[in-house]
Amino acid sequence: MSQPLTARRSEGLTGRLKVPGDKSISHRALILGALATGRTQITGLLEAEDILATARAVAALGADVMKDGDRYTVIGRGVGGLKQPDGPLDFGNSGTGARLMMGVVAGHAMTVEFTGDESLCRRPMARVLTPLQEMGLEVEGEGTTLPLTLRGTQDLIPLRYELPVASAQVKSAILLAGLHAPGRTSVIEAMPTRDHTERMLRYFGAEISVEDREGGGNIVTVCGDAELTGASVYVPSDPSSAAFLLAAALIAPNSEVTVEGVLMSPTRTGFLETAREMGADIEILDQHEASGETIANVRARTSNLKGVTVPAARAPSMIDEYPVLAMLAAFAEGETRMQGLAELKLKESDRLAATAAGLSACGVEAEVDGDDLIVRGNGGAVEGGAMITTHMDHRIAMSFLVLGLAAAEPVTVDDGSMIATSFPGFVELLSGMGAEIG
Ligand code: S3P
Repeated sequence: MSQPLTARRSEGLTGRLKVPGDKSISHRALILGALATGRTQITGLLEAEDILATARAVAALGADVMKDGDRYTVIGRGVGGLKQPDGPLDFGNSGTGARLMMGVVAGHAMTVEFTGDESLCRRPMARVLTPLQEMGLEVEGEGTTLPLTLRGTQDLIPLRYELPVASAQVKSAILLAGLHAPGRTSVIEAMPTRDHTERMLRYFGAEISVEDREGGGNIVTVCGDAELTGASVYVPSDPSSAAFLLAAALIAPNSEVTVEGVLMSPTRTGFLETAREMGADIEILDQHEASGETIANVRARTSNLKGVTVPAARAPSMIDEYPVLAMLAAFAEGETRMQGLAELKLKESDRLAATAAGLSACGVEAEVDGDDLIVRGNGGAVEGGAMITTHMDHRIAMSFLVLGLAAAEPVTVDDGSMIATSFPGFVELLSGMGAEIG
């Protein structure tokens, strides 16, 4: 059942708040917890649909997942110790959950059906299946989209693999499979992508190294037949969720909002860097280390923005933030060109097309030029007054609701229900800041 939501022009957004835990780290904490021996305790886990699907999947594979107050406990089964599930694993809307778990299942002698919702069943899986098949995974039939039946093996072969696309999901799936293979498995990435899997593997006791690749990027190597030991994981606030609230504060008049405890990994801060280049008044406060990651409070105030060119090399560090960056670009003076975004066509929806179409409907000049997204802002005035098609994409829904908070006329999204896949409480947090949304 679709749930339309509307955002109306709002002034004076204020607040000091926290957003839910990081989605990428939450998936990994559950998965590594299931592969470790002993007890993993997770605080700050994101309680969103995508993560709950991963929790159900690791439980179906034999790990115990328990919740006590705001803490989750996972009792792992050890690397290679998971069991055949009774039915299909359903990952809902989550590409990360499905792809990472393919790497895990690859290393177990079991046959497992992977499935998901309509959006996930359209997304390409060959990028993960191809390297995993080289390692020994078998795929029933010829298909490369879900639903798919995969047959893992206890006899995986280690791999040295150069990523054809910059993808932390593909890198992570191979590293997770590599834990089960004898010898060393290496992933070579020309552009550094988010490194939460590497960091957490090291934290759980795996032998893992990261070397510089000649010409840029990294070579990540994990030693197989690994032993992981359960650990305590603290999940910082998700910078990709924080971006929506910060963007709202930047474009709604007379606003000042601070988001606390935000993950500041350099593999995730491209949005903040770009917004600052556009002239955003953003301050990073109280930066410190927690559980091996850098976190900080981030404050944003209403700003006059100008258009910029965003280089393709920055894409991995802000891959999920382009739709909301495009909303800032709509309010900026002049043209913003976001380069090299082929990957955005393969997300929960074709985000390049959905963003350009939604902006055009709101009276903003926007176009897709090859793999680039171009938005021509006219210095603070956006008409709005449109119904946006979200294509089951949470980030398209949230981006256009943010736009509606500063547009002249209300903006409605056709379905806000998918927001729960990544950012439960989004509407309530914005309302608490003074936004007219509902
Ligand atoms: C993620 C990696 C990115 C990102 C996704 C989360 C991860 O996908 O878009 O939301 O947790 O590894 P790709 O690896 O496909 O770029």
